[in-house]
Amino acid sequence: MFSIQNYTVESLASQFGTPLYVYDGNKIEEQIGKMRTAFAGTNLKLKYACKALTNINIMKLMRKNGVDIDVVSTQEAHLAILAGYQPHQIQYTPSGVAFAEIQEAVALGLRMNLDSLPLLEKVGQTYGNSLPVCLRINPHIMEGGTLKISTGHKDSKFGISIEQAPEIYEIVQKYDLKVVGLHQHTGSDFKNANVIISAAEKLFDLAFKYFPNLEFIDLGSGFKVAYHEDDHITDMDKLGKGVVKVFNEFCAQYGKEVELWFEPGKFLVSECGYLLTSANVVKHNPGRNFVGVDSGLNHLIRPMMYDSYHEIINGSNPDGEEKEKYDIVGYICETDTLGKDRTIPTVKEGDIIVIKNAGAYGFSMASNYNSRFRPAEVLIYNGAAQVIRKRETMEDILKNQIVLDI
Ligand code: LLP
Repeated sequence: MFSIQNYTVESLASQFGTPLYVYDGNKIEEQIGKMRTAFAGTNLKLKYACKALTNINIMKLMRKNGVDIDVVSTQEAHLAILAGYQPHQIQYTPSGVAFAEIQEAVALGLRMNLDSLPLLEKVGQTYGNSLPVCLRINPHIMEGGTLKISTGHKDSKFGISIEQAPEIYEIVQKYDLKVVGLHQHTGSDFKNANVIISAAEKLFDLAFKYFPNLEFIDLGSGFKVAYHEDDHITDMDKLGKGVVKVFNEFCAQYGKEVELWFEPGKFLVSECGYLLTSANVVKHNPGRNFVGVDSGLNHLIRPMMYDSYHEIINGSNPDGEEKEKYDIVGYICETDTLGKDRTIPTVKEGDIIVIKNAGAYGFSMASNYNSRFRPAEVLIYNGAAQVIRKRETMEDILKNQIVLDI
């Protein structure tokens, strides 16, 4: 039977029920360690992109390991503060938000990452040089697992176009803005890791030309994880060697040891997460077999939204020799195929079907579609399994509905 740390998936399912998100906290620490080793020799700062998995306990674990936080909303910032972060440890990277939210973020004391010229202008008018800022630059590089998660190309909504550097500089001069950082994020799940180096070199050029007082360069994230058994994950050590070399050369020429920032989401939490489901029904149709599980696109939208592949195993019988080919489908009233044409050990009703690599953008993108409850979450850390979010109930579904006298 498949186990996570010292717990079989059947024991987890019987103790906590299904559907269930389970996270291996020690695996997260292992991933943090890999990044620290790869970029040793620089002044490295990791900022966990918490949109990937926003449970406060995961944030606390990051904090315990000296990892700061990247947030994209003031709501995420409030969660980070609840997790114990000081505002200066929180980088706020919003996209297209109302200025009122920017003001709220400034009042909270967050570090600001600005991504449009109009916003830069407003920040200049309102705060002048009293507010240190980072600029999100769109380097015009096409990379990322799919177009939907590619964010650094010319037609992407994110960042200030690198071609607008003279306009940026004009605004910076006009308000004497204090630019302390440059940022880029090319996209999630990149195929070519060297994209980080190409993008970094573009930021270095800007730094030399316009920004002599930087404190850090933020190279975003996008590291590839192994969704498919045959996927080549980002070779962190190899990438590290390349980045450390160009970064240290940059610092030497720049005349200052600036900090090197990354904002990993998937790399830190994807592999740590498993979605445990129960096989509700095994259906043999002419030409196609289905395993219907007690979950679906409401709990893991990635297969539907990005055509993403997630490895799926029969956790009750992972090594069984008798196998069959199935479509693993959800219980939502849509064609919510979680995995197509998967040959796995024969499934019987009640088996625990495990969807791997579900830690990042799993629960955080879950919904109540079909008025289904979102799953419970369990963290296994140092051999102890604890609930970190209760399963929802009918009360949660009804919470904000106002029933009129009709
Ligand atoms: N920094 C910025 C500015 C970002 O926009 C993102 C992700 C990250 C860091 C973290 O990237 P990661 O390490 O996770 O690749 N829901 C999609 C991914 C959307 C990513 C959004 N931004 C998915 O499930 O593939």
